[in-house]
Amino acid sequence: MSLSALGSLLLASVLLVGSTTASAAAASDPSLFPRRTSSSESSAQQACTHLQSALGPIASATGNAALYNFTVHNAWNLQNTLYQPTCIVFPRAAADVQTAMRAIYTAGSHYAVQAGSHSGMQGWNTIQDGVLISFSQMQNVSYDASRDSITFEPGIHWGNATAQLAQYGVAPVGGRVGDVGTGLLLGGGVSFLSPSYGFAADNFISVDVVLVDGRLVTATATNQYADLFRALKGGANRFGIVTRYEVRAAHVGTPEETPFYGGLVLYNATESANVALVKAVAKYVKEVTDPNASMVTTLTTAIVNGLPQQYTWSFLMYNGSSLPPSIFGDFLAIPALDSQIGALTWTRVLPVGDEPSPGAATNSLRGFTQHFGGSALHGDEELFLNAYTRYKNFTETFMSAESAPSSGLNLTTLWFTPVLASQIEQGRLNGGNSMLSGSQTTPYAMAMLAEQFNAGLQEIPASVQDGMDLWLEQVPRSEGLPIFVNECDAKQNAFASYGEYEFLKATYMKYDPGRYNVEHQQGPMGL
Ligand SMILES: Cc1cc2nc3c(=O)[nH]c(=O)nc-3n(C[C@H](O)[C@H](O)[C@H](O)COP(=O)(O)OP(=O)(O)OC[C@H]3O[C@@H](n4cnc5c(N)ncnc54)[C@H](O)[C@@H]3O)c2cc1C
Ligand SMILES: *[C@@H]1O[C@H](CO)[C@@H](O)[C@H](O)[C@H]1NC(C)=O
Ligand SMILES: *[C@@H]1O[C@H](CO)[C@@H](O)[C@H](O)[C@H]1NC(C)=O
Ligand SMILES: *[C@@H]1O[C@H](CO)[C@@H](O)[C@H](O)[C@H]1NC(C)=O
Ligand SMILES: *[C@@H]1O[C@H](CO)[C@@H](O)[C@H](O)[C@H]1NC(C)=O
Ligand SMILES: *[C@@H]1O[C@H](CO)[C@@H](O)[C@H](O)[C@H]1NC(C)=O
Ligand SMILES: *[C@@H]1O[C@H](CO)[C@@H](O)[C@H](O)[C@H]1NC(C)=O
Ligand SMILES: *[C@@H]1O[C@H](CO)[C@@H](O)[C@H](O)[C@H]1NC(C)=O
Ligand SMILES: *[C@@H]1O[C@H](CO)[C@@H](O)[C@H](O)[C@H]1NC(C)=O
Repeated sequence: MSLSALGSLLLASVLLVGSTTASAAAASDPSLFPRRTSSSESSAQQACTHLQSALGPIASATGNAALYNFTVHNAWNLQNTLYQPTCIVFPRAAADVQTAMRAIYTAGSHYAVQAGSHSGMQGWNTIQDGVLISFSQMQNVSYDASRDSITFEPGIHWGNATAQLAQYGVAPVGGRVGDVGTGLLLGGGVSFLSPSYGFAADNFISVDVVLVDGRLVTATATNQYADLFRALKGGANRFGIVTRYEVRAAHVGTPEETPFYGGLVLYNATESANVALVKAVAKYVKEVTDPNASMVTTLTTAIVNGLPQQYTWSFLMYNGSSLPPSIFGDFLAIPALDSQIGALTWTRVLPVGDEPSPGAATNSLRGFTQHFGGSALHGDEELFLNAYTRYKNFTETFMSAESAPSSGLNLTTLWFTPVLASQIEQGRLNGGNSMLSGSQTTPYAMAMLAEQFNAGLQEIPASVQDGMDLWLEQVPRSEGLPIFVNECDAKQNAFASYGEYEFLKATYMKYDPGRYNVEHQQGPMGL
């Protein structure tokens, strides 16, 4: 299969979305967090009534029904379209978020925050019987050449930011898929630029944060909120609501310039090619030290016409005019079905929206139930081969022609994202984050198992959850490495794996001593 055929296969599935009407089952689903009680309902009502008069037109089931409905159905993970918030607030400025947070806090209401809506975790970006704060009306982005920084509001998507900043030759260090949003930053965030710039969050210059009681503070690396600033680099949605980010600008060239070289390689996914590829990834993680090199590799299994098909590919990229054989030779030696290697503009690396971008060749579409699980591995070949072998067993168990109809699995992917020493070092140079302690300097790779279910499937079968649990048990993280909160199973305690876990807990207690956030909003456990 060619790359363009892969693209149209993936695009075709968007047409199915319209035929799957997600029922409003959530209202009666007892598994949803937080538990539906009459008191959570009435607290939410109280907050919404107050907000309706304080903020004017807000979208709610009784207010702007079209906007409410669009927002509810727009969540990427189908499971997150099944919740019905009591009302949705669409702030236009930080002051609106303060008003909303004060009303929520005073009423004791449950709440959620949504930016790009791409969370894979059920319930992390929406809420039943609570207030949802949606940033869809706050999407400004601008470049300040004198500070060489980019300032944006939380509603922007990475593809839109790329498009609007291309004329200046700069980009924020954000996601690898255009349709994803800024929640990525709070989970740390990895970009194709990370080898030279660090985790996405390592590029924060200042952030405006609405604390749980409605106070608005600006946190920087050196002011009185420096602890909050650092905690936010990996602390996900637990430390407040960010209303403005100022980040270091990455210099990526204009659409007329091609500072990068590389592209997608789609391999002939035989067993020997897969094994060679996994070994190449392990060697890359262990040996590559050049921050100009960037790479992601995935092994995908998709059900096509009832049969499992394998798609194995890498996106290879170099800041320069060729792919150095000393770095990428092993990848280029594996027999390929198709490859799109060539000179790259940044706008080609990260196109706008759902366009099948190099980093987006799988599971970027909305409308399907999605599920992640994550591990982190040192560059030891055996660890990578083990992750692959366990993944293969998972797919043979749940994605054979016989088993796929009952597992409901339509597409699974094993992703390997290297975290080179240069990436870790950039974080340290920028004051550190909450994921890695100062003494963690060894390169590693994040390994992620991602599942996409058949159109319409709303509840993950218990056997498949067991299969994910088994994979996570069989592919444990290497000693001392953090689980990536952007790519984990909600049941994994990612924070507890952080190098700065004690710091994270202490900082949480300082800014939310009443534990309001963890008791009223779904998100990572461990605080
Ligand atoms: C197709 C795809 C590709 C991906 N690629 C990458 C990648 O390249 N690199 C990477 O690091 N991750 C990647 N991810 C994971 C992604 O980073 C997470 O899913 C991330 O949480 C998405 O952010 P969002 O704004 O789109 O989603 P949302 O669901 O809107 O937000 C995610 C979480 O952040 C919280 N949040 C959002 N904004 C704020 C705010 N302003 N203040 C407080 N809390 C907030 C939300 O409450 C929610 O819990 C990818 C995910 C998908 C589905
Ligand atoms: C809500 O949106 C969904 C999906 O976009 C659509 O199918 C449905 O008809 C809409 N319902 C209403 C009441 O507008
Ligand atoms: C967002 O951009 C619009 C149009 O450029 C501008 O009118 C508005 O003031 C900006 N808002 C903020 C908060 O910067
Ligand atoms: C893929 O590899 C298999 C096994 O070596 C071979 O038979 C097949 O022809 C290859 N396919 C392509 C398109 O090269
Ligand atoms: C590419 O390399 C140049 C020269 O070292 C550097 O200035 C630039 O920041 C690099 N760009 C990226 C995106 O890594
Ligand atoms: C990265 O690439 C730039 C040119 O694109 C080059 O000047 C620089 O030396 C390279 N850095 C390393 C570490 O090779
Ligand atoms: C963002 O990009 C999408 C295309 O994917 C476009 O439809 C949308 O209007 C853009 N939003 C903004 C605010 O530019
Ligand atoms: C499975 O996903 C593919 C795209 O990857 C899509 O074309 C197909 O319709 C999906 N099948 C089901 C049953 O959802
Ligand atoms: C393969 O996966 C299935 C389902 O998760 C599990 O029951 C079985 O024990 C696994 N086998 C091995 C060898 O891991």
